[in-house]
Amino acid sequence: MSDTRQRAGTRVEVRASDDQRAVPERRFRRLRRTASLRALVRESRLSPDDLVLPLFVGDGRGRRDEIVSMPGVFRESVDVVGEHVEAAVEAGIRAIILFGVPDVKDSLGSGGYDPEGAVQRATRLLRERFPDLVLIADTCLCEYTDHGHCGILDGRADVDNDATLEVLARVAVSQAESGADLVAPSAMIDGQVAAIRRALDRAGHSGVGILAYSAKYASAFYGPFREAAQATPAFGDRRSHQMDPGNAAEAVREALQDVAEGADLIMVKPALAYLDVVRRVREACEGVPLVAYNVSGEYAMVKAAAAAGWLAERSVVLEILGSIKRAGADLVITYHALDAARWLREES
Ligand code: PBG
Repeated sequence: MSDTRQRAGTRVEVRASDDQRAVPERRFRRLRRTASLRALVRESRLSPDDLVLPLFVGDGRGRRDEIVSMPGVFRESVDVVGEHVEAAVEAGIRAIILFGVPDVKDSLGSGGYDPEGAVQRATRLLRERFPDLVLIADTCLCEYTDHGHCGILDGRADVDNDATLEVLARVAVSQAESGADLVAPSAMIDGQVAAIRRALDRAGHSGVGILAYSAKYASAFYGPFREAAQATPAFGDRRSHQMDPGNAAEAVREALQDVAEGADLIMVKPALAYLDVVRRVREACEGVPLVAYNVSGEYAMVKAAAAAGWLAERSVVLEILGSIKRAGADLVITYHALDAARWLREES
């Protein structure tokens, strides 16, 4: 017997067996009966391999300051970051992304390409100590400029596109020189992927890949990160270069453009409020590794609710990270990475 229904403009044929007609309520529940059956038919899975741990590195020695709005996340000097990374590697994490938080900043963000900058020193040290760990460097200027903007400012206090491209390329080359596997341009400056690809190739770093922050929205969820990186714009905001939250088709165009310019991996950021964008970019860029960034504000919400006893942290975190994968991301950058990797190991 067949039953034809009209659903969202498509005809769906439902063929029911006698058994299903007799007890229709058992049709889906059969495969949910035991933990083994559920695991057998699970469509998407989370593993420590999927997680990228963000780390904030700064100057000085023996420094490890917890970020108030991100419990469990620290700003660390290069000499102590190794312990943290060791724990992550033991838990099965394969990749980290480094953000630099220098004590001294200037209007040109020159600390970003200082060979003795915290990211460069941390990269050299970690490259030596953990040869198999994938080292990603965030390539932006907002952590290095005294005005907190992501680029060089023009006469009207807006980010100057072409002047910024040159500096971003310099930052990327210096990160590659220090041993980064991937550089991750996050400034949302038009042409940044092409400019960085060209500069890397010219400098002999054709083996260094680009993880492009392709669809990065002008989001209020970055608040705690800005405390961590001390990178809140001194005036104005980032809406002249980051994406408008109302747009999704534009995210697909951004991602396709980055792939055309030579991006090896693409990213959607933030993750949770933009899972529809993750799915759309996934479908439009089949075969290109897709990363989603579970950002600082998303982390802070979970930590605050968990600390108040309002949410079960472990289950909620694994459900959130799982949802990002199910939406279509291959990898998730998350401050929960170390905890989540440990929990996943316990479960498997
Ligand atoms: C810019 C950058 C930001 C984040 C990652 N890279 C901040 C911003 O654009 O204001 C935010 C990450 C987070 O909130 O966790 N270099």
